[in-house]
Amino acid sequence: MTKHNIAVLGSNGMLGFDVIRTLQKCRHNVIGFSRPMFDITNHDHLIDAVSNVEIIINCAAYTNVDGAESNQLTADAVNAVAVGELGKIVKKLNKYLIHLSTDFVYDGRKNGVYIESDDTNPLNVYGKSKLKGETLLINSGCRHCILRLEWTYGHNGTGFINKILDRTKTRDSLTIVNDQHGSPTATAEAARLICKLVENQAEGLYLFAAKGYATRYEIAQFIIDNLNLKTTLIPCASDYSPAPAKRPLNSKFNCNKIDSLFPEFRTDWDSTLGDFLKEMK
Ligand SMILES: NC(=O)c1ccc[n+]([C@@H]2O[C@H](COP(=O)([O-])OP(=O)(O)OC[C@H]3O[C@@H](n4cnc5c(N)ncnc54)[C@H](OP(=O)(O)O)[C@@H]3O)[C@@H](O)[C@H]2O)c1
Repeated sequence: MTKHNIAVLGSNGMLGFDVIRTLQKCRHNVIGFSRPMFDITNHDHLIDAVSNVEIIINCAAYTNVDGAESNQLTADAVNAVAVGELGKIVKKLNKYLIHLSTDFVYDGRKNGVYIESDDTNPLNVYGKSKLKGETLLINSGCRHCILRLEWTYGHNGTGFINKILDRTKTRDSLTIVNDQHGSPTATAEAARLICKLVENQAEGLYLFAAKGYATRYEIAQFIIDNLNLKTTLIPCASDYSPAPAKRPLNSKFNCNKIDSLFPEFRTDWDSTLGDFLKEMK
């Protein structure tokens, strides 16, 4: 296997952490870039990060979905403008970039599962900024792969699963939406896939999620059952949730495109989450 020199931007984040670990296990030479020393909105920092490697993986993002509603300028600067600038530098220096995006580029109104060519229509500021980043990146003309992920969780994280785990420790009951459908996806699995993409230098847009679908309520119930917790769950509709940002109700991905590149790669959401919970115990 060819050893590559790779820069991981946002290496202290939930995904960046697993990407670094996985690439190192595969014996690639990896350099992580993270705040405060590295700011993706700083042109000189981008040049420094890109110059001495062949491959760049951009895991840096403004990911506070609700916070973005009142911080549009920051979300745009990090998730859109900086990604366009990164694309221009990658193009100029003739490198290869893997960029991460999200199911929040869709409005969730499709009757069926999403594929790569479906129309986008983000419902919130975060989703709009991520979609703008994708567009600016494509317009830069650099060699790239965009991987849209959904509902990720990992050991270094603060996502939905991690929040449920925290809240079950301090609360007797939790109210959870039961009308948002998707697939909880381990960042460790996304990192394994990114390692394969690095080795294949695949280009274009791909959707990736664990196999199978569930509502957020079903996932929370799975965690409670799996850990034998006493917490009671109360289902509610998204309309009754006080979150500032609207979320898509349907985030179901059809991953045939990635399956055709890497057959038998994806794992079932429940067995992978079950393994993750065992590791947390
Ligand atoms: N989490 C999900 O459910 C989910 C779902 C779909 C797609 N994604 C995508 O997956 C990618 C990775 O997200 P994640 O879940 O790993 O999120 P995360 O844990 O929030 O990691 C993002 C990282 O970006 C860094 N960052 C923010 N602003 C920066 C800046 N100006 N310069 C440099 N670094 C900056 C953050 O630094 P600090 O630690 O200093 O804040 C953080 O370490 C993102 O593109 C996200 O949109 C995530």
